[in-house]
Amino acid sequence: MKVYLKNGNVTTKNSTPGISVYGEELIMEDDEYRIWNPRRSKLAAALLNGLEKLELEDTSKVLYLGASTGTTVSHISDIVVNGRIYAVEFSPTTAKKLIQLSRQRPNIAPILGDATKPKTYLNIVEKTDLVYCDVAQPTQTQLFMKNMNLFCKENGMGLLMIKARSIDVVQKPKKIFKEQEKKLKEKGFRIIEKVKLEPYEKDHVGLLVEKNF
Ligand SMILES: C[S@@+](CC[C@H](N)C(=O)[O-])C[C@H]1O[C@@H](n2cnc3c(N)ncnc32)[C@H](O)[C@@H]1O
Repeated sequence: MKVYLKNGNVTTKNSTPGISVYGEELIMEDDEYRIWNPRRSKLAAALLNGLEKLELEDTSKVLYLGASTGTTVSHISDIVVNGRIYAVEFSPTTAKKLIQLSRQRPNIAPILGDATKPKTYLNIVEKTDLVYCDVAQPTQTQLFMKNMNLFCKENGMGLLMIKARSIDVVQKPKKIFKEQEKKLKEKGFRIIEKVKLEPYEKDHVGLLVEKNF
């Protein structure tokens, strides 16, 4: 996976040189690199915390649920430079920025849609190598599994970012994470890697999974 460590920062090679997407710093060397901010992107936090089994090639296809304005999507766009990211976001206001971003980056296909209803974008999205989910909703494990079942390739992976407080504000995060893992296992998913996102995000965990087809 083409991610570069520079002075303790995780970076991606900028596929739109000269353009900073969310105010991130650009580093000029032989090529231009964008510093990937772990406080703005859970994937950067997971990578800095040692996530190592995620596989993304330059031609990989990704289904991204909860794309927001495209902060993390933009770095994945640098990595899968000849691939495609189907970026689903349900807030029309937020999706405006994402649509603007997709004009600069042709490998991003923005979808104004609801990730709890994956059949509504069945005709637009192809099978993908990765299903990435960061919707911060109480039912996100269920919607993640639905999308995995419809769109993940047989040898593909899923990455679920769980924020404990989005699921339950009272229960202990450890218990919440255990319950979500149990739900995944009961439905035939195998957890390949588990990464905490502290100190960048409190009470968050990233679960890298594959489906036993
Ligand atoms: C935590 S933010 C995502 C941040 C983004 N992943 C990033 O790293 O740049 C969660 C996003 O999920 C979106 N969202 C929540 N429920 C959704 C749903 N059912 N379908 C699609 N998007 C949803 C929200 O509007 C919000 O933009």
